[in-house]
Amino acid sequence: MRLSLNTPSSLWATLASLPLLHAASLQKVTADFYNPTNVGFYLYVPDTLAPNPPVLVTPHWCHGDALAVYNGSSFASLADAHGFIVIYPDSPNPADQCWDVSSPATLSHQPRAGTGGDSLGIVNMVAWTVKRYHADAGRVFVTGVSSGAMMTEVLLAAYPDVFAAGTAFAGVAFGCFAAPDGSADYWNSDCAGGLVTHSGAEWRAIVQAAYPGYSGWRPKVQVFHGTVDEVLNYTNLAQEVKEWSAVLGLCGTPSSVVENTPYPNWTKYVYGKDDWLEAYSAANVTHNIGNHEDVVMAWFDLACTTGECFRWGQGGPLGSSLRNSTAAF
Ligand SMILES: *[C@@H]1O[C@H](CO)[C@@H](O)[C@H](O)[C@H]1NC(C)=O
Ligand SMILES: *[C@@H]1O[C@H](CO)[C@@H](O)[C@H](O)[C@H]1NC(C)=O
Ligand SMILES: *[C@@H]1O[C@H](CO)[C@@H](O)[C@H](O)[C@H]1NC(C)=O
Ligand SMILES: *[C@@H]1O[C@H](CO)[C@@H](O)[C@H](O)[C@H]1NC(C)=O
Ligand SMILES: *[C@@H]1O[C@H](CO)[C@@H](O)[C@H](O)[C@H]1NC(C)=O
Repeated sequence: MRLSLNTPSSLWATLASLPLLHAASLQKVTADFYNPTNVGFYLYVPDTLAPNPPVLVTPHWCHGDALAVYNGSSFASLADAHGFIVIYPDSPNPADQCWDVSSPATLSHQPRAGTGGDSLGIVNMVAWTVKRYHADAGRVFVTGVSSGAMMTEVLLAAYPDVFAAGTAFAGVAFGCFAAPDGSADYWNSDCAGGLVTHSGAEWRAIVQAAYPGYSGWRPKVQVFHGTVDEVLNYTNLAQEVKEWSAVLGLCGTPSSVVENTPYPNWTKYVYGKDDWLEAYSAANVTHNIGNHEDVVMAWFDLACTTGECFRWGQGGPLGSSLRNSTAAF
């Protein structure tokens, strides 16, 4: 049958619901797992999974939710194409739907059934997904925009044993949003305004305090920021670079600068020689910077299904003696 623009919308709806066109859908998981703040768990499992599939976690922005990222990004159709699983966590904070990136509970590594915050709930979703779908615990990745970017950096700092890489679009350094009184869901306007600045050594100490004694392998990091970001001041990009370069033991001066990458007027800065930290300055871009699925697909090697796909413990500046995972799924 030939469909025209005049085709009744009820027919379009029928066609869209036919299993062959798109059988997989976003599902809400209500499994019994330890979830101290009751983060909502939405999962997309494509009909055809890659063997031992990778897992992509994509926390939403403030005033967003899991459905907004599912609908507003192409990660689900990319999962259809490449066979990976997508976790869309949903913030339990009714006030503004921001992630808790301010309380000591969320800003620290916790045992799987310990105290903990939004970050532990997300980590336990990853653990549940790895078990349920025989997913690859070495290929777990996280990316988000704004509050989702802040949560991305929280997960990389507090659970470096779980995540192999992360990409943060318009976020802030780990710990920058910490509440002076330790409260959860705190909006740190000093950090947002670009007024929280530290030396690399200070930022490194903040990250190390998230998981005291951890000396293992660390995920690789990409950070992006628009120069005219009106919500989280552009100054935060430099703080993120100071933090992650210090944590990874890299020189804070870029080893390469590439203009007009990946888009016109965006500049790519690479730190160190292992390509473990990349920062992107997006000229004239506001807080509304976007998801950039193409960028994270490449950084996480998510299209890879056979052979030497990028994974936890592979490469990096910290050396092979530090590569043992402590994650126990
Ligand atoms: C889904 O996204 C489109 C634009 O990308 C928007 O017009 C629509 O309202 C969204 N629907 C939901 C349910 O979020
Ligand atoms: C970011 O902060 C700087 C320094 O306070 C300020 O000059 C600039 O206008 C701020 N940027 C935006 C987009 O608000
Ligand atoms: C890049 O910047 C130049 C001027 O600085 C501007 O004219 C041009 O429109 C910008 N291109 C894009 C794609 O933003
Ligand atoms: C920056 O963006 C504003 C509005 O979005 C536009 O008017 C201006 O030409 C842009 N400037 C450059 C250098 O791209
Ligand atoms: C890593 O694991 C191997 C084999 O399980 C062990 O021999 C080695 O001591 C461990 N290395 C570290 C740094 O824990």
